[in-house]
Amino acid sequence: MTAQAPAKRLYIKTYGCQMNVYDSERMADVLAPLGYGLTDTPEGADLVVLNTCHIREKATEKVYSELGQIKRLKDKADGAMTIAVAGCVAQAEGEEILRRQPAVDLVVGPQAYHQLPELIARAHRARGERLAAEFAADEKFDALPIARNPSGVTAFLTVQEGCDKFCTFCVVPYTRGAEWSRPVEAILAEARDLAAKGVREVTLLGQNVNAYAGEGGLAGLVRRLAQIEGLDRIRYTTSHPRDMDEALIAAHGEVEALMPYLHLPVQAGSDKILKAMNRGHTAEGYLRLVEKIRAARPDIALSGDFIVGFPGERDADFEATLQLVREVGYGSAFTFKYSRRPGTPAAALPGQVAEEVKEERLARLNALIEAQQRAFNAAQAGRVLPVLFEKPGRHPGQLVGRSPYLQAVHADAPDRLIGRIVPVRIESASRMSLAGALELEPA
Ligand code: SAH
Ligand code: SF4
Ligand code: F3S
Repeated sequence: MTAQAPAKRLYIKTYGCQMNVYDSERMADVLAPLGYGLTDTPEGADLVVLNTCHIREKATEKVYSELGQIKRLKDKADGAMTIAVAGCVAQAEGEEILRRQPAVDLVVGPQAYHQLPELIARAHRARGERLAAEFAADEKFDALPIARNPSGVTAFLTVQEGCDKFCTFCVVPYTRGAEWSRPVEAILAEARDLAAKGVREVTLLGQNVNAYAGEGGLAGLVRRLAQIEGLDRIRYTTSHPRDMDEALIAAHGEVEALMPYLHLPVQAGSDKILKAMNRGHTAEGYLRLVEKIRAARPDIALSGDFIVGFPGERDADFEATLQLVREVGYGSAFTFKYSRRPGTPAAALPGQVAEEVKEERLARLNALIEAQQRAFNAAQAGRVLPVLFEKPGRHPGQLVGRSPYLQAVHADAPDRLIGRIVPVRIESASRMSLAGALELEPA
């Protein structure tokens, strides 16, 4: 007879990109055998994990203010709470976290969270002794259980980590390390497990997912995944224009499960700025690439990331960004003011742009992108789109799902359609979502 371990409450707060969302889920998987079950508030939690992001200054500062609040909860619980900081801030400034917030018990970088059970045990044995785990590189995935615990009909699946591109503004190569790809078989095993548990759509993740270097490259992987029974939709993010090879472009034209929506960040439209960013391509090169992709898959929609106010960006450079956006026509995009990150080459460049100028450029770029997004959504009205229903909507009798273009779609539909891909006639559109009606009553 073994005594049942008492249920322990685990609270995880996730910042940053989808790779952190994936990692948070996997941390929960690693901790479940120790008796930890997820809770959605930090009050009364036995273990609090902040999975952090270092990409911009604001993201980093949020972590320290959140830690201040968690510390008060820990004090209220007479110290009966373990606080762990994971993710990219942990990797980049673990020592500083421990110095600035003494309530933190351990910091663990993104490549080392498979060691969490052992780190927690050590932290408990030696109360007050605080621990830091550094890069353990590729052992991480080998140490994780294959079995996932998906929370819905869509799931993230990390296939690649790290970055060798060294864009001059970016911390990722320093927080996530060198590019590294998981073997095809491990990914297929994880995907089969997800599909068996009802997942219909996977989004393959990587800081440079199209640099995937496993056998057959990303195109080969996509083709293998498309053969898995039940897995009807495949997406991937984030891709770099430099790694968009012919095989992957061809797959967009040939693999039905590969959704016609591509996140392909360009960051800026001025060749001078692209060069200073070390992006490794020109604006013209990007436009030609988009043309090729559209030739392979004419109905593909694009999204992107943009940075305004990179050091040295003059009005004419910013105008070139607007011009590129007009030429491409995006379905949606993320826009950011340049944030000066310690240790990155761009932080030391002359010609840092004033905050008001960044604000003004961001507002102009956002207005243009919002208009494109509205137009793109409005263009769906009257069309019939296949929608993967994910969950109940806000109104009774309504479900929410996703179009092939990742738009949220609301429609009156019975619950049994959750997890099904169903034709929906789109009737109206706003900037953020679509609404429609079932085209036919499915069996
Ligand atoms: N690997 C991806 C991007 C990962 S970071 C790619 O190369 O496309 C996500 C986005 O954050 C970037 O595309 C960029 O637009 C933005 N970003 C990264 N560093 C930044 C910084 N220092 N300031 C502002 N935005 C930044
Ligand atoms: Fe950062 Fe550039 Fe790597 Fe993307 S490609 S993660 S922006 S260094
Ligand atoms: Fe942030 Fe790290 Fe992702 S810095 S954007 S959480 S890779």
